[in-house]
Amino acid sequence: MLGSIVKPIVGSIFLSFILFSSWAQADVSVVIRTDQPGGEINKNIYGQFAEHLGRGIYEGIWVGPKSSIPNTRGFRKDVIAALKELKVPLIRWPGGCFADEYHWRNGIGPHKHRPVTVNTSWGGVTDDNAFGTHEFFELAEMLGAEVYINGNLGTGTPAEMAEWLEYMTSPSQSTLANLRRKNGREEPWKVHYFAIGNESWGCGGNMTPEYYSHLYKHYATFLKSPEDNRPALIASGGYENLTEWTETLMKNVPQTWSLRMQGIGHHYYTLPRGNWEKKGRATGFPEEEWMSTFVNTLKIEDYIKTNTAIMDKHDPEKKVGFFVDEWGTWYDTEEGDNPGFLYQQNTVRDALVAALNLNIFHKYADRVRMTNIAQMVNVLQAMILTDKQKMLLTPTYHVFKMYVPFQGATHLPVEIKNNPNYSLADLSAPQVSASSAKTKSGETVLALTNINPSADIEILIEGQWESAEGTVLGGDKMDAHNTFDKQSVTPKPIQARKKGNALVVTLPSKSVVTLFLK
Ligand code: AHR
Repeated sequence: MLGSIVKPIVGSIFLSFILFSSWAQADVSVVIRTDQPGGEINKNIYGQFAEHLGRGIYEGIWVGPKSSIPNTRGFRKDVIAALKELKVPLIRWPGGCFADEYHWRNGIGPHKHRPVTVNTSWGGVTDDNAFGTHEFFELAEMLGAEVYINGNLGTGTPAEMAEWLEYMTSPSQSTLANLRRKNGREEPWKVHYFAIGNESWGCGGNMTPEYYSHLYKHYATFLKSPEDNRPALIASGGYENLTEWTETLMKNVPQTWSLRMQGIGHHYYTLPRGNWEKKGRATGFPEEEWMSTFVNTLKIEDYIKTNTAIMDKHDPEKKVGFFVDEWGTWYDTEEGDNPGFLYQQNTVRDALVAALNLNIFHKYADRVRMTNIAQMVNVLQAMILTDKQKMLLTPTYHVFKMYVPFQGATHLPVEIKNNPNYSLADLSAPQVSASSAKTKSGETVLALTNINPSADIEILIEGQWESAEGTVLGGDKMDAHNTFDKQSVTPKPIQARKKGNALVVTLPSKSVVTLFLK
């Protein structure tokens, strides 16, 4: 008798447990709003930054024609071949802080006549100026990339800046145009973007935004080039959550033909500890720093929102772009290296940081029409690391390769339902991030990330999709990385499986996935 009473009670407890637990674990699903296509994801969101800094250019890209490292006219063959795979759309050069002490005339003409200068911004080392204007354009041409030249406002003059532009773009028979010809380049080069100074609030001259905005107008007035070769001019903007630079520039620089500010360059670096004195290590970090790295990375969305809201007020037609022309992780320099060289390892954490940033840039593609990861080789969140003749591809490189289909694609909004939070102590962030687009060849691509370091997650892809195949990048540890001897973080194939009318894909812990949906 007792048994027959107990059984229904136990049964109903069991049933409600099942109901409760299936409610508690409702499917995490994504819906791609193919019915609400957004704007074009400008390919230049995938721009890169190459500065005269550490082994970024010298050794990383340029070894000189006499080097025993295999090279084409001085450019490393291995690095160039790897970069070609990324379809690098744009390169920013020569800095950074270095730009405001760069005098372009030092980097033209026969190598043996070029002066040796001191890089006072980075490491105090000498620069023989073997890599100058002609070498930069050759690099861009080899990669099929557009060029973004950063002019010297800090220690240069309006004349020096204007003459550089004339040297690069003039088809005339002027002395400067003929000097370019004498140095080996007959036709003018196309200059796509030109910035007037860099970080003018800091290393570029410690200016106020008010003072800088007047200098911008002064210098821009004299930047003349043929009508069909007028670069988009970029003003040096603020950083992190600063809005003052954006506000002042939008207020003070009229959108006239001669001043034509087409972008404001804003900078944001991810520091695990958010502290410039003790940023945190690139490898061997605790889970707290894994977590805080993502929380800090995601802040960029707010910075974009607040700055672009100001721009919308002054420029509702969105003529001026918000260019995040420096972004990425910045860790404590690897022990034993020159601290001014900013050399750091790159782990699966960096892969996730790259994907999170790119997903956010896609979302604001109407204003964020160009960004440059810092930097291309051997510096900060690099694509490639070298050690003399050896080279490795970083996890960040692999993400950039996986995301190539997003270049120039049409953004498709993605809704994530029941996205759990990954939390640690008092920090918390959505576990899954997603971005989707219709590629130029008409395919639908979906990118997904899982920042949880220990739990896989199943994602239901809603909609009438038949199949999804693509690539997954992950690692067994939070600081899984590639060394010159062992490649541990490399892309692998992944497929979704059918579940009813939907597809299901399992995102491994700490992973980035890109899928083509059919
Ligand atoms: O990317 C390294 C440096 O970071 C750049 O030179 C400067 O603009 C920024 O502070």
